[in-house]
Amino acid sequence: MTYENLEAIITNKNGQISLHKRFRALFTLKNLADVKSIDILAKAFKDDSALLKHELAFVLGQIKNPYAIPILNTVLADKTEDPMVRHEAAEALGAIGEPSSLNILEEYLHDEHDVVRQTCELAITKIKYENNKEIPENQKNQTSLYTSIDPAPANTKIQSVSELRDILLNTNLPLFERYRAMFTLRNLGTTDAVMILSQGLNDSSSALFRHEIAYVLGQMQNPTSVPFLIETLKNVNELSMVRHEAAEALGSIATPECLPALKEFKNDHERVVKESCEVALDMYEHENSLELQYADGLGNTVIS
Ligand SMILES: [Fe+2]
Ligand SMILES: [Fe+2]
Repeated sequence: MTYENLEAIITNKNGQISLHKRFRALFTLKNLADVKSIDILAKAFKDDSALLKHELAFVLGQIKNPYAIPILNTVLADKTEDPMVRHEAAEALGAIGEPSSLNILEEYLHDEHDVVRQTCELAITKIKYENNKEIPENQKNQTSLYTSIDPAPANTKIQSVSELRDILLNTNLPLFERYRAMFTLRNLGTTDAVMILSQGLNDSSSALFRHEIAYVLGQMQNPTSVPFLIETLKNVNELSMVRHEAAEALGSIATPECLPALKEFKNDHERVVKESCEVALDMYEHENSLELQYADGLGNTVIS
């Protein structure tokens, strides 16, 4: 597929392209990961789907090229933009990890939206952590089964699952520490870890934390978490940002019981949930088909 094709698809040039096809183009561009792709991704922000735009920001962070910083700054600074999209722009700045982003992140440390404020706090802590010369390099860049750049590094110093559980669920601790426990549990990958992480879906202190738990459960693809994710998707009192992440996690786990739940909410009154179910149903089909790769032949991926 040419860049011209990809641009026409992702920007829905002819107005006829389904969201799930646009998502596949998005992940093809993510895998291409060059400056030309970043330029195309930047153009797609002129859209009215918060789901698509938050994914654009996520992908720009994962590509990890400082070339994308100006566009992410614009998205974060735009108070008319959906908080979920601004959150993802702040997180992407953290993923790119340039100390020069600290200023803008500090500016939104008191944002009116908790999810933006807390993301800026996490991104600032991550950038400072990575640039702290007193911390050994092997504690900063850890490899795991997962290829994502995470908002906090796993904490390899803690081995005990019960200690990780206590940190994860302790609402008095800084989010950065709780996230570190979250990614450590994810990397452990046991059913025990999945059960502990699933408890985090009921954490009443932070919607940001709950949405990240749902994302991590989607990455793990362990069927044990399915009933908990369905409960989150079905909870209409839950924030749409969290329900959206539960829907996409179900699309990625893709066991038979995920299908009726996704179908049930594919016309949800919250646009972001409705669109997530549409994309998740496409992922479900992909997971249950012989297609080798979701992003049109250029690598497997998990959606944010
Ligand atoms: Fe997010
Ligand atoms: Fe998301």
